[in-house]
Amino acid sequence: MAGKVANAIEKKIEKAAQRCINAACGARYGLRERIYVCPRCGETLEIDCQLMRPSDPAALRERWAATKAGPKLPREASGVWRFLDMLPFEDDAPFVTLFEGNTPLFRAPRSAKYCGLANLRLKHQGYNPTGSFKDTGMAAAITQAAISGARTAVCASTGNTAASLAAYAARADLQAAILLPRGQVSAAKLAQSLDYGALVLEIDGNFDDCMRLIQELGDDPAIYVANSINPFRIEGQKTVAFELMEQCSWRVPDHVVVPGGNMGNSTALGKGFQELLDMGLIRRLPKLSVIQAEGAAPVARLFANLSAAQRNGEEELPEKLEAVENPKTLATAIKIGAPVSWKKALRGVVRSGGQVIAVSEQEIADAKAMIGRDSIGCEPASATTVAGIKKLAASGHIKQGEDVVAVLTGHALKDPDYMSSYHRGTLGVAADAKESAAPAKAIRGAFENAPERVAATKSAILASLKQRQ
Ligand code: F0G
Repeated sequence: MAGKVANAIEKKIEKAAQRCINAACGARYGLRERIYVCPRCGETLEIDCQLMRPSDPAALRERWAATKAGPKLPREASGVWRFLDMLPFEDDAPFVTLFEGNTPLFRAPRSAKYCGLANLRLKHQGYNPTGSFKDTGMAAAITQAAISGARTAVCASTGNTAASLAAYAARADLQAAILLPRGQVSAAKLAQSLDYGALVLEIDGNFDDCMRLIQELGDDPAIYVANSINPFRIEGQKTVAFELMEQCSWRVPDHVVVPGGNMGNSTALGKGFQELLDMGLIRRLPKLSVIQAEGAAPVARLFANLSAAQRNGEEELPEKLEAVENPKTLATAIKIGAPVSWKKALRGVVRSGGQVIAVSEQEIADAKAMIGRDSIGCEPASATTVAGIKKLAASGHIKQGEDVVAVLTGHALKDPDYMSSYHRGTLGVAADAKESAAPAKAIRGAFENAPERVAATKSAILASLKQRQ
């Protein structure tokens, strides 16, 4: 395929491989082998795309911009497939798409001020077809499932991966089976999976239990695992880095900040930016920081205990992560205690000079409302970013005038119950009552905005307006 398209990156697809991330192992496997961890050492895998540095990076950027302005091939209308140059797929792959990607980058002046910054931009992945960032990765994973001849695709999920898998599997005529922690997924997300026709299996356990089951099911030859442990998911998701750089006119932001759950998204952004650097398309990496919820923050805890030499990349990173046994957060999307991609993600964070920190339930809730005030809105997990940026600005890691982008991962309507409870002053950790017998610790919304009951008269309405002015 190399050289078919003018100015394309030369990609030695026949040499591309799934590679074990454990340098001491370094095993390589063919792209079509349906494996998710290294059969030799058990470590996670990543795709080595065998990208060759383009002779003319500027021409390549122009070509990508041209496909966005006016796609020539049907697949180029997808914000994932228009970056095929950077992906481990042939030109004639059976591309699955729901026109994912190409999401907006908003200025967020109120959120910027809230964080103590001059500027802040929010890249909203909630504008994807099923309302979350998962769609970019799912386009790639389900295309690969079709190539590999799978019949059933499965995932464990806190809700968004499930909705996305259900939609993309339906599009590709695959059976979708979804494992959800019973009672711990937002009703809106669950309803999406039902609507797209997936088999929804509610498990008595938490997300980490579902994930363990998925890893067992992965041995079955008919089953294709679509969680972000699957390295093809990461390939689709890394395109957000390319798209973001286009939107920034290829001026690298100082900081990119993302939420952290299973750590697939942060892995993907780290890989995307690194490949742009390796290709000579950017000159430096943005500092990539990851924000977790305090009650589900195993990686932030590990990061806090790293030595200065480990943070600088001068010493090896730890081999083991201590899982959080019973993770707790109202941001249910990231209620995860044993993230599978932590090692890959942490490597990218450290390489870029970023940090991993945790924020409280109160901080998440108020940041979410602030993003709403910017007329943008997002689901609770996404708001960890703005809460984290406020903290990183206060600690001096982010400077007041620096160029900062947060990646919002899910649409506001993904979790309307949370949003409504916050504004009515009824949001509390007790909503999580199944695992916690502790009394409710209510979250009092600093930006609470409860509906008012008003008499059905003009004067009552005007009086109400006046009071709020
Ligand atoms: N934000 C949202 C809205 C999510 O749904 C998730 C993960 C994350 C952030 C964290 O991303 O796992 O790549 O670090 N949701 C998964 C799911 C776990 O099943 O939908 P991550």
